[in-house]
Amino acid sequence: METKILSLDSINEDKNILFEAAQIIKNGGLVVFPTETVYGLGADATNADATKQIYHAKGRPSDNPLIIHIADPKDAENYAFTNSAYYLLAERFMPGPLTVILNSKDSIPLSTRGGLDTVAVRCPADPIANELIRLSGVPIAAPSANLSGSPSPTGIDHVINDMLGRVDMIIDGGDCDFGLESTIVRIDSEDSLTLLRPGKITVNDLSAAGFNVMLANAVTEQLRDDEKALSPGMKYKHYAPKSPLVLLDGSRDNVFKYITESKEDNIAIIAYFEDMSFYSSCFPKATVLNFGNKEDKLTQAHLLFKLLRDTDKREYKTIYAPLPEEDGIGLALYNRMIRAAAHQIIRL
Ligand code: TXA
Ligand code: MG
Repeated sequence: METKILSLDSINEDKNILFEAAQIIKNGGLVVFPTETVYGLGADATNADATKQIYHAKGRPSDNPLIIHIADPKDAENYAFTNSAYYLLAERFMPGPLTVILNSKDSIPLSTRGGLDTVAVRCPADPIANELIRLSGVPIAAPSANLSGSPSPTGIDHVINDMLGRVDMIIDGGDCDFGLESTIVRIDSEDSLTLLRPGKITVNDLSAAGFNVMLANAVTEQLRDDEKALSPGMKYKHYAPKSPLVLLDGSRDNVFKYITESKEDNIAIIAYFEDMSFYSSCFPKATVLNFGNKEDKLTQAHLLFKLLRDTDKREYKTIYAPLPEEDGIGLALYNRMIRAAAHQIIRL
């Protein structure tokens, strides 16, 4: 398939690009578009044939459901059964990086929602994404625009690497703002939620909006073999770089000792900015990658998937990275990194 790549810095720049993209969606085609979290691989969520093409393009198992993207929180009425908790969340966090699981209406075909009774709904804040949905006149089903198993794409080179020849159009909107996928919640009652995937909207943010928030086990733990995944995506290997990633939890001196004793030359170290020159001088043969300042979680979120993809350019014996703390946005980093590392954590 020939893929058209068009760049767009703002929605006012060239509206024709968005009209053309919307026409592709209406006709059942595939368009990759930027959002404030990661790039999405979009198709008409109400068209079963179109959403089947998404699974095909990504190589994604068909029981792993898609998020439907709407231009206005009220549009959820057409596709799902809403309630007061949904509207409270919408008022506080939408448009924005929050996805809410609701009971689905029949307007969303089973293939879009991986055969479940529920559907994931998100209203993106990114102006290109929002305008594309509005012009398409349908909800856009969109998983992250990576090949299944790879880190989500946060820059156009990632998208081109994974999706060229697999989709009709790619809209290049530059780097995504946040860099990790949306927070996903399930509504359990009027004032309680289960967090299925942490993101920019934190547990604190949700609590401050008046909700009791339970953490699904799989957010911080490995899913047991006999445990049912609350979100199908939890059971799949994810975000993995090609070389093995190991998370080290300990002081810089202990990390130094551990890496020295492991006697590996061909390694990469994802390091906080403050520690970079220390590691570069201790391990001159290692590739040392800048993960931003230790306290700057936003920069780390912005960089994580890019760094994981950068390590794929070579084969390393091991990639080492620090284990993030689990508070605030740190929980989203922790969740993505323990999965990228296949739960290989070494406490020093
Ligand atoms: O930020 C994001 O959410 C990005 C952008 C493109 O919007 N999208 C994204 O989609 O991350 P995806 O498909 O890569 O991840 C969606 C996750 C999957 O783990 C899936 O299992 C879960 O949402 N999910 C979708 N529908 C669900 C449902 N009805 N119940 C539980 N989990 C669901
Ligand atoms: Mg994904």
